[in-house]
Amino acid sequence: MNVAHIATTRRTCKAFDPARKIPDSVLGDLKTVLRFAPSSVNSQPWHFVIAGSDAGKETLAATLDGALAYNAGKVRAASHVVVFCARTALDAAHLDGLLAQEDADGRFATPEARAGQANSRNFYVGLHRDQLNDADAWADRQIYIALGNLMQAAAALGVDACPMEGIDVLALDKALGLPETRLTVRSFTWVSRLALEQRS
Ligand SMILES: Cc1cc2nc3c(=O)[nH]c(=O)nc-3n(C[C@H](O)[C@H](O)[C@H](O)COP(=O)(O)O)c2cc1C
Repeated sequence: MNVAHIATTRRTCKAFDPARKIPDSVLGDLKTVLRFAPSSVNSQPWHFVIAGSDAGKETLAATLDGALAYNAGKVRAASHVVVFCARTALDAAHLDGLLAQEDADGRFATPEARAGQANSRNFYVGLHRDQLNDADAWADRQIYIALGNLMQAAAALGVDACPMEGIDVLALDKALGLPETRLTVRSFTWVSRLALEQRS
């Protein structure tokens, strides 16, 4: 793989052919890239929603009007649309889940190493939440790592992408029921998304 070639030939796709669909195997690779994206203290302050059906994409596209209408056609025509959501709070349930998964993955050679990871993560979560007051911005920074990795992987796999910040975050939250639900999805907010298609 020639990374300089990928960097110099990748470009943002502004129009998508609805007839072109990302093969399942390629989509699986892209999901893996998202799931394995690195984050500070492995906090994983995100949730990714992928719309591949016409109905799902329409739910997203319908939120884009007025000055944002120029992005709606891309969402409707793209093979898949990835919505990047941020957790608005890294609560105990999330942090406990991370630690249990890291344990199951064999990341800790000793109980002390496990405790050290928990302490370190708790320190940083508290630092951003209580002292720096930038927990949302901290989460967004992690999410943009995942976004960047996905764009680069898509280019390497011959999949065109268009990152979009031209979205109505509040309308998307409402369309997907994020403010109302009592499930974990309530703590997500939209930050960006990609529209993808398989290059011929
Ligand atoms: C974070 C981010 C947000 C963007 N938002 C939009 C958008 O809402 N709509 C759009 O058509 N392009 C969007 N773009 C694409 C940029 O316009 C494009 O990346 C830039 O012009 C450079 O072109 P290139 O990616 O082909 O090198 C966005 C790009 C980035 C990185």
